[in-house]
Amino acid sequence: MKEQLLAKFRELYGEGASLFTSPGRINLIGEHTDYNGGFVFPGAVDKGIMAAIRPNGTERVRAWSLDMNEASEFGLGEADKPAQSWARYIFGVCREVQKRSGRIGGFDTVFAGDVPLGAGMSSSAALESTYAFALNELWQCGIDKFELVKIGQATEHNYCGVNCGIMDQFASVFGKRGNLIRLDCRSLEYEYFPFDPKGYRLVLLDSRVKHELVGSPYNDRRASCERVARVLGQEFLRGATMEQLDAVKGQISEEDYKRARYVIGEECRVLDVCDALGRGDYETVGRRMYETHWGMSKDYEVSCEELDFLVEVAEACGVTGSRIMGGGFGGCTINLVKDERYDDFIAKAREQFAARYGHEPKVYDVVISDGSRRLE
Ligand code: GLA
Repeated sequence: MKEQLLAKFRELYGEGASLFTSPGRINLIGEHTDYNGGFVFPGAVDKGIMAAIRPNGTERVRAWSLDMNEASEFGLGEADKPAQSWARYIFGVCREVQKRSGRIGGFDTVFAGDVPLGAGMSSSAALESTYAFALNELWQCGIDKFELVKIGQATEHNYCGVNCGIMDQFASVFGKRGNLIRLDCRSLEYEYFPFDPKGYRLVLLDSRVKHELVGSPYNDRRASCERVARVLGQEFLRGATMEQLDAVKGQISEEDYKRARYVIGEECRVLDVCDALGRGDYETVGRRMYETHWGMSKDYEVSCEELDFLVEVAEACGVTGSRIMGGGFGGCTINLVKDERYDDFIAKAREQFAARYGHEPKVYDVVISDGSRRLE
């Protein structure tokens, strides 16, 4: 990827590019808890976005997407929003950096990625983090890593129409090889957990069913949670109990009740999984993953037939834990599998999924990797 990127950069803009990269992420557990002020448990992966970039001494950005084979050119002002959706991420980052430091200029850039789009692995966060990190370095803005994370999140909110939480950008910027990150999304306190489950593997099965989060049910889910939190007199759902929720059942819609029930359960599951990991108790980790899946499917209603099917296949193959990962509405499952069951599970999942849906899921072994960085 690096060579292709530099070759294209040379062809379009000449020499002198710096290279930056940021990863996508997995999340072991803690889904839709981030915007509820709760805990998440993600890690960065060995797939991400890479960008070649060089200041061009103007007030304009000239960008080329290698994957789309498409150019975009835009200015740095609020009114200069580009037409291409991929370019809006870069534009949004430029705007958010300027709001915080006001000190960047135009640049030329080529970027490419190997984090699958729409798989629930946060390709967009990888893109935002790459440019936030790069602009901060190249113009020496002095923005700290927490603020880089918020730049990515604000880009989604203000320029891409997704009212997301902070997990994806945090994992992308703060990722550390071999470690998951337990993040408290209310205080932003975080802790690295070395993750090397002996005798088990983490594998993703990508259904290749794509979700579209913009203007979407994702924002509706968040709105449901915020309504319930308001009725409970809290800023976030974080910390609410089922007793409290049941006490206000008559004041909220049945749908909002189910959404909140999922979040309250998920909150307990994340903490439970952290404890279980400490004891090396992967059976409990796995059980909680299945519970998360069916909570996301039945109460939060962000799964889909294909993902439910993959989880059922996992269950039938004796996989320790399996669930839909990320925002939902398609994407992939994350699976915790005993070494000795791995081959059988992958073979059956491929075969049975293809027989039903006409294509095989893609299989990605998870390698937990480092966060945003400059490449030599
Ligand atoms: C998407 C969002 C995250 C988070 C997850 C669900 O990936 O970007 O902020 O809410 O969905 O856990």
